[in-house]
Amino acid sequence: MTGIFITAGPFDGQKPGTSGLRKKTAQFSAPHYLECFVQATLSAVGAKGKTLVLGGDGRAFGAEAAAIILRMAAANGVARVIVGRNALLSTPAASHLIRLHGADGGIILSASHNPGGMDGDFGVKYNIANGGPAPEGVTAAIHAETLRLSGYHITATPAPDLSQDGSYSLDAMAVEVVDPVSDYAALMESLFDFPAIRAMFARGFRMKFDAMCAVTGPYATEILERRLGAAAGSVMHGTPLPDFGGMHPDPNPTWAADLYGQLMAPDAPDFGAASDGDGDRNMVVGRGIYVNPSDSLAVLAANAHLAPGYAGGLKGIARSMPTSTAADRVAAALGIEAHETPTGWKFFGNLLDAGRVTICGEESFGTGSDHVREKDGLWAVLLWLNILAATGRSVAELMQDHWQKFGRTFYSRHDFEALPVASAEAVMTALRDRLATLPGTLVGNTQVTLADDFAYHDPVDGSESRNQGLRVVFANGARFVLRLSGTGTEGATLRLYLEQHSDTPADFARDPQEALSAVIAAAEGLAQISGITGRVAPDVVT
Ligand code: G6P
Ligand code: ZN
Repeated sequence: MTGIFITAGPFDGQKPGTSGLRKKTAQFSAPHYLECFVQATLSAVGAKGKTLVLGGDGRAFGAEAAAIILRMAAANGVARVIVGRNALLSTPAASHLIRLHGADGGIILSASHNPGGMDGDFGVKYNIANGGPAPEGVTAAIHAETLRLSGYHITATPAPDLSQDGSYSLDAMAVEVVDPVSDYAALMESLFDFPAIRAMFARGFRMKFDAMCAVTGPYATEILERRLGAAAGSVMHGTPLPDFGGMHPDPNPTWAADLYGQLMAPDAPDFGAASDGDGDRNMVVGRGIYVNPSDSLAVLAANAHLAPGYAGGLKGIARSMPTSTAADRVAAALGIEAHETPTGWKFFGNLLDAGRVTICGEESFGTGSDHVREKDGLWAVLLWLNILAATGRSVAELMQDHWQKFGRTFYSRHDFEALPVASAEAVMTALRDRLATLPGTLVGNTQVTLADDFAYHDPVDGSESRNQGLRVVFANGARFVLRLSGTGTEGATLRLYLEQHSDTPADFARDPQEALSAVIAAAEGLAQISGITGRVAPDVVT
């Protein structure tokens, strides 16, 4: 090894959450904090001699962190690092590069949809050789290292300038600076019918894509405007900024309110979409119609065969447990496997690797397929565009067609944010303690058929993950789920997921909050959220 050993750490609290380690940028950039977590990661995965991919979403501290990580990688004996120009890579593009180059893994610098800037959040996530987030065994090993280390290795040699593509060396380590967009754009072009989408734009189809001043700007501009011919200006907020221009880069009706408003206006474009800080999430909005992510997954799965990359059909569909059961109905109709996993994209990895599923999705605005091992915001947008081009239907018409065929699963998520941890845990404990007594009881005019704390048995590697969320299912097709977010950085966020299925066409036009009112009342009655926390209304409704 070259370089020096700096004595530092260990730091408490470096346990990776749902998606890597996320902390306030000020904490991550404090002396030795990033370094100790990166050392733990490199030690836990045995980085010597390995090839890694490195990049992030452009948020504050990302470029500095990339330079530090390169110097640490060199000192830890890493053979080669492939890094996006200016340390930029969307999360799905990083996943693709890991797979394309047969790399051993990658480090992604992002706190996803959390605000950026020195007052915002920063994050570091390790992905494994399949291109997907490290599974729990690996994150547990990283956490164990964070508690045991006594410092980190780093070379005094400065990292190369990352603003120019090319091959460089840092001590004995090779550094390749690559265009962050081109390989990803080529992958998209291989999956979708670009000529058909281009023809649709040429006929006057109008769309707005909100990149939220985050990493997807350059990707969306290249693919939508340059390659597909969407009108100039179709991409909004297309330049990545360290503080995301003050935006909260979370693509939902609350945080992408500007785009949402444009799609609800009388002169709305045909299609709207937004992505998050690191490009793995998506929100889809048609003219005058919001598509909730659970419905989006179901519609994409039902129509994926219209895109060349999926013309052979799907092997199976997976969704996270709190995601609505709409996709299960599609899987049943197609006669393919349906899987229900805990929240967190990492749980899809084994199913995708084993060829058990082709498409996966989560209520948290994530959809993706076996083309990479992350969810992929632009991929979802392109599959929607491909389906719109192939069918000639509008988003509203496609939704109507879908509900006529499969019924409508009304869905909403209510978030109670920044709660005192004790208060959020009290809600969970109180409901957990009652679960065993619930099956068979009447709530309102329907019976509880199942109440449990969700546990997942991975059918591929046999591993088991417990305590993944409390779910209460009713005989009338309603369900609610309660769990604590694993991605926040302030206090605790309690998420209440609500659904109600209906096969009655007269219901389909109902407002979701109104259609869900009975299950909302049942959840409040059983979980006592306002009683215990004092919060009378959610902070965010999706
Ligand atoms: C990240 C993960 C997703 C997960 C989401 C919500 O985006 O990649 O897989 O669904 O966080 O997590 P949370 O624990 O905050 O509900
Ligand atoms: Zn993200």
